[in-house]
Amino acid sequence: MNHERIVIERGRRSGFPIIVAVHSTSRGQAIGGCRMKGYAGWRDGLADALRLSTAMTAKSALAGLPHGGGKTVVALPAGRILDAGERRDALLDTGDVIAGLNGAYATGPDVGTGPADMDVIAERTPHVFCRTDKSGDPSEGTAAGVVAALRAVCAHRFGSADLAGRSFAVLGLGHVGAHLVRMLAELHAKLLVSDINPALRTVAEAHGATWTSPDECLTAEVDVLVPAALGGLLTPATVPVLRCAAIAGPANNQLDGPSTAGLLRDRGILFAPDIVVSAGGIIHAIEIELHGATPAQATRRIDSIEDTLGKVLNGHLAVSLQ
Ligand code: PHE
Repeated sequence: MNHERIVIERGRRSGFPIIVAVHSTSRGQAIGGCRMKGYAGWRDGLADALRLSTAMTAKSALAGLPHGGGKTVVALPAGRILDAGERRDALLDTGDVIAGLNGAYATGPDVGTGPADMDVIAERTPHVFCRTDKSGDPSEGTAAGVVAALRAVCAHRFGSADLAGRSFAVLGLGHVGAHLVRMLAELHAKLLVSDINPALRTVAEAHGATWTSPDECLTAEVDVLVPAALGGLLTPATVPVLRCAAIAGPANNQLDGPSTAGLLRDRGILFAPDIVVSAGGIIHAIEIELHGATPAQATRRIDSIEDTLGKVLNGHLAVSLQ
């Protein structure tokens, strides 16, 4: 067992499994978002929480934050859409479980939750970041961190950090993906974009991006593939069909397992570890809420991801992939 503490409770109000995995507090309070989505069973939610919380420990440390890693998963039955009352109950239950950890762990938004949900969790515990009246939505900070990371990737792979004219295939147009596509369009990058939700096509096209299917996007011949949806997309089945020169994006746990990194290396595809690339959101929240930073100061800290990733890609900083 590598985790300090794992709490699994059936929500008193909602009846849903609430899972909080505290991986490590050795550097400080564990932080990590609250994921609320469908799973085949609660054990699948537990597996996700264990892997994601482990990644958060490394993410916080690599971002230079005095924090450890944790994660919350509210494991909904697959395909279940919550009404407002059920959602509120699930969030209050989540707040109660986090309150029981007495500050060892603080949560934030993740897949399936946002700042308004953090306000509800805050009715039960103060250990929550990104409330609407605090630092709010971290996704723009996450996207800014991805841009910084892409500069490091392009400098390493193509000899220039300039993103103008470079081609990117952005897989996923959610909270982070939408900000990212806007920022990359402003930098005059060439963009291919996909999402499982076809209604987002107009959003992509408004930024001058070319809309494709997720399959085409994954295998597109581009400079950099940018995974911005759920993890696990890099597998022994998908790596052989990739046609990108590099991969760097904000999705958590992109590799299905550490050995897949070796397959990417064999194909000459540069892989930027997502624990470095995706840290902009936590940096934004922590700098503003705990260190009293201004948004401009937070942005400067987020931009340091370029430097950190440069050190990783040049072999001066070791990152263990999981
Ligand atoms: N979802 C964020 C991440 O994976 C988690 C987070 C954001 C936690 C902001 C706290 C504050 O990095």
